[in-house]
Amino acid sequence: MEYRVLARKYRPQTFADLVGQDVLVRTLTNAFANNRIAHAFLLTGIRGIGKTTTARIIAKGMNCIGADGQGGPTVAPCGVCTHCIMVSESRHMDVLEMDAASHTGVDDIRDLIGTVQYLPSSARMKVYIIDEVHMLSNNAFNALLKTLEEPPPHVKFIFATTEIRKIPVTILSRCQRFDLRRLETPLMAQHLKNITLKESVSADDEALTLIADAAEGSVRDGLSLLDQAIAMGADETGTIHAPAIREMLGMNDKSQLFGLLEKLLAGAVGEAMAEFGKLYAAGADSAMLLQDLLALVHFITRIRISADAADDIAFSEKERTFAMELAGKLTIPTLTKLWQMLLKGLQEVRIAPEPAASAEMVLVRIAHSADLPSPSDLIRSVRKEAANAPVGGGNAAPSRPAAASLITTQQVVSQSVAQPTVVHAPLPQSFESAVQMFTAQREPLLYNHLVRNVRLVQFEKGRIELNVAAEVPQDFAGRVGARLTEWTGQRWVIILSHETGAEPLQKQRDAAEAAKREAVKSYPLVATVLEQFPGAVVTKVTEQP
Ligand SMILES: Nc1ncnc2c1ncn2[C@@H]1O[C@H](COP(=O)(O)OP(=O)(O)OP(=O)(O)O)[C@@H](O)[C@H]1O
Ligand SMILES: [Mg+2]
Ligand SMILES: [Zn+2]
Repeated sequence: MEYRVLARKYRPQTFADLVGQDVLVRTLTNAFANNRIAHAFLLTGIRGIGKTTTARIIAKGMNCIGADGQGGPTVAPCGVCTHCIMVSESRHMDVLEMDAASHTGVDDIRDLIGTVQYLPSSARMKVYIIDEVHMLSNNAFNALLKTLEEPPPHVKFIFATTEIRKIPVTILSRCQRFDLRRLETPLMAQHLKNITLKESVSADDEALTLIADAAEGSVRDGLSLLDQAIAMGADETGTIHAPAIREMLGMNDKSQLFGLLEKLLAGAVGEAMAEFGKLYAAGADSAMLLQDLLALVHFITRIRISADAADDIAFSEKERTFAMELAGKLTIPTLTKLWQMLLKGLQEVRIAPEPAASAEMVLVRIAHSADLPSPSDLIRSVRKEAANAPVGGGNAAPSRPAAASLITTQQVVSQSVAQPTVVHAPLPQSFESAVQMFTAQREPLLYNHLVRNVRLVQFEKGRIELNVAAEVPQDFAGRVGARLTEWTGQRWVIILSHETGAEPLQKQRDAAEAAKREAVKSYPLVATVLEQFPGAVVTKVTEQP
């Protein structure tokens, strides 16, 4: 006997067999019972969920004459009368199935409309099933409209589409619409189980749940995956087991990854490297590996927040137990730190010329930081130290970090790093404030020269002696003098000198900045951070508001 794929073999022939579409079935049942059958239906929903199937059941129901040849329209077609059989086999003269995907033109629709006026040849109703109706051209839709408005009494239209948004409202408003639902995983798994029973195949529940989940609500997808699983074969015990399915679905076994993660967290660099080597030798892709680790950390974090998250069927029983164990041990800050390091590592690995080497470096870095406290732990411990400090020992001097309270420290930091304030005094009291006027008054070019290319030899009110570099323009001294005179209302002269003078202002500022960075290193909080994170550097000192 030829093998028929499960999806075709098990196409529901009646609504009783249609799974998960209760609302649709109930509404149609009422309509048939009250003899209020719409003349146009629109069935919508994702792929492989029963649209074509439903269209055929409706067509059969409209034309079924029952086993005795006496029956009327019904939602439960008998399946044995000639009409039922011919519709099921897609060869009924009066039930026309058209695939709009391949007949999108206005001419196809005109041909179809041309046949509408003729009475059915043998059935009660002429039924037009137009699948993938969203594929029709605009003209084709327009040609349909008039017929759809007032079809002859013996004509019914059934449209099916996966893309309801592409259907013009003019069409929508002339149809009774049914939304077919995605199947939830448990319902799909149950359906798959019923089919394995009929096929005398044994599969464990976890395997079926995995397939059901991967099908994402589409029954046809679920059945195709089951086909594949059956073809792949059962194990020695004659059963299809979850691990095989996981492999088939490309969800590889994560227990090795758990091993790797454990070694990393324990800071066991050598063992972690060995684990990585094993995975790599087995063909794991470096970036994929980090991605899997990320997924794992995410999973553990979710469990940490809510234990319910552990019922994720993408992970095996063993993996779930393991993740729960880790979730019990790790804190959220540790998990987020791990996540960030992995994420940053992943970005590096993706652009690295040698991804495997880069991945190794990432893992080494993580293993090394395993015993590092998180920033919040650090702050907490510094606070605790401060609280334990002897009363009266609150000397905030940077040389006595342990005794300084955090608050005092902050004050010290903000005092010592306060930026020089801009002086808008009409008469500048220093060279620095005179120069500052050039930014305040928007003379960026002159300001730039004053800051970088000028050494101060002497400053007096009304008289500035400068040693200027070759970069400054010819009329520089004249312009600076003129500007200052203008702004202050007092005469200023700039005298050029050959004496060495002081360092340019910018150099002085850079040096001061560096000194500031150096100085904060001895504040308790900063010192602890630097000590706990080897290689950390102070890059910027900003003032706390
Ligand atoms: N609700 C359902 N209950 C049981 N089986 C279903 C259901 N939906 C789909 N199937 C199975 O999937 C197969 C395909 O269904 P059908 O052709 O009706 O899907 P469709 O919604 O028209 O999909 P498409 O959008 O791809 O045309 C059927 O033969 C049947 O085996
Ligand atoms: Mg279809
Ligand atoms: Zn029948």
